Amino acid sequence: MSNLPPSPPFVPAKPSGETVTLTEDATGKSFKMNMINGSVGPKVIDISKLYAETGHFTFDPGFTSTGSCESKITFIDGEKGILLHRGYAIEDLATKSDFMEVAFLLQHGELPTAPQKTEFVKHITYHTMVHEQLMKFYSGFRRDAHPMAVMTGVVGALSAFYHDSLDINDPVQREISMHRLIAKMPTIAAMAYKYSVGQPFVYPKNELSYTENFLNMTFSVPAEPYKINPILAKAMDRIFILHADHEQNASTSTVRLAGSSGANPFACIASGIASLWGAAHGGANEAVLTMLAEIGSVANIPNCIARAKDKSDNFRLMGFGHRVYKNFDPRATIMRQTCHEVLSDLGVKDPLLDIAMELEKIALQDDYFVTRKLYPNVDFYSGIILRAMGFPTKMFTPLFALARTTGWVAHWAEMLSDPTQKIGRPRQLYTGAPQRSFVALASRK
Ligand code: CMC
Repeated sequence: MSNLPPSPPFVPAKPSGETVTLTEDATGKSFKMNMINGSVGPKVIDISKLYAETGHFTFDPGFTSTGSCESKITFIDGEKGILLHRGYAIEDLATKSDFMEVAFLLQHGELPTAPQKTEFVKHITYHTMVHEQLMKFYSGFRRDAHPMAVMTGVVGALSAFYHDSLDINDPVQREISMHRLIAKMPTIAAMAYKYSVGQPFVYPKNELSYTENFLNMTFSVPAEPYKINPILAKAMDRIFILHADHEQNASTSTVRLAGSSGANPFACIASGIASLWGAAHGGANEAVLTMLAEIGSVANIPNCIARAKDKSDNFRLMGFGHRVYKNFDPRATIMRQTCHEVLSDLGVKDPLLDIAMELEKIALQDDYFVTRKLYPNVDFYSGIILRAMGFPTKMFTPLFALARTTGWVAHWAEMLSDPTQKIGRPRQLYTGAPQRSFVALASRK
């Protein structure tokens, strides 16, 4: 076991004493439900005994009103544009901290002391290499495979390599698997990139920081020395912080649901990567760049806006809108500023940035977007920075996955430490055929 503090014990919240009564109009029967107060944010109504006591389920497709779990990791106030990790504002973390500290914070609940940070970074650094045989998996993929496909497969395969950290009931093994996942993601992502461009894999270097190491494994080649640009390393680290966690989004909920059955952590994170890939979630950063390139020039923006508003066209303005943020996405504000800083530091003039800025301006004045509270989200600007850094579009979502792994493992560990944890098993509203008699093949019409 390391000298790091154990993951915090999970003490579930208690009912506040307030209640809500639900009355069935047809029968007049009523059912009293407890309220539970969060430390901040809306109160919740505890419906966990609803079915047992009334025989009814609730119906909430997309979980727009349903809390799937209790968590102490991340808080979002979508109306006010607030994002807190363990109580710390994302603006402070992005500008005053670094990604390793944020990873520690998510997992352990507190910012590390200096010795704790040194110890944590050492553990991560010494787990960055992957088993040599794992490298053979890459050659099984087509060179043009999407790196998210490669990452889903390779991360899932980790469970076939690290048998000594699969016991989820052993806190030591849990910690090692979390360190392994955080540490190996940059190596796995960089290898996916190297494989796609036909260059040799680059081994991790322990003298580099987490972020520098990732840049080195991605962009260096054996033929010549590679000098890490400190501006890029800082921007990359900030991008990682901004993507580290975002409470119960689709991929995190996927990780929790997968883990609720007792699945091993590598399998759970692979399921999170698969969920993240979708264009409505992490895949949006790639989709934004594709969209900006398709728009091609500022003159074509009105047509793009008209398409986004046309309900008979399923085109959406990628990088706009968010399930939770209905004012602004605080990550987007920092990302926008970072984007301008990076482009000016690097002296890059990107015509896609001009299109993005004009698109943002026009959309923010348009009644359709204003009334629906659709604002640029974190992915709107990240692609432009990543492109300026030299990442191909297909690598954008793998970078998101790399960063989000810190949040995923923190949620996975928190779920396992919750004494009320059960296998996730949503119910449904069934509207298919009721029971009917089987018809033999010869009699079917
Ligand atoms: N372009 C055009 N119309 C939109 C957009 C958009 N990007 N987003 C939402 N709408 C409209 C939607 O058509 C609906 O209109 P109406 O009320 O007339 O039917 C209304 O706004 C509400 O949309 P919704 O689909 O009910 O909202 P949601 O909370 O289910 O979806 C979203 C949230 C992020 C999936 C959606 O806004 C979207 O598809 N955005 C584009 C993809 C994107 O940028 N995703 C990245 C999210 S941030 C990173 C992450 O969390 O992974």
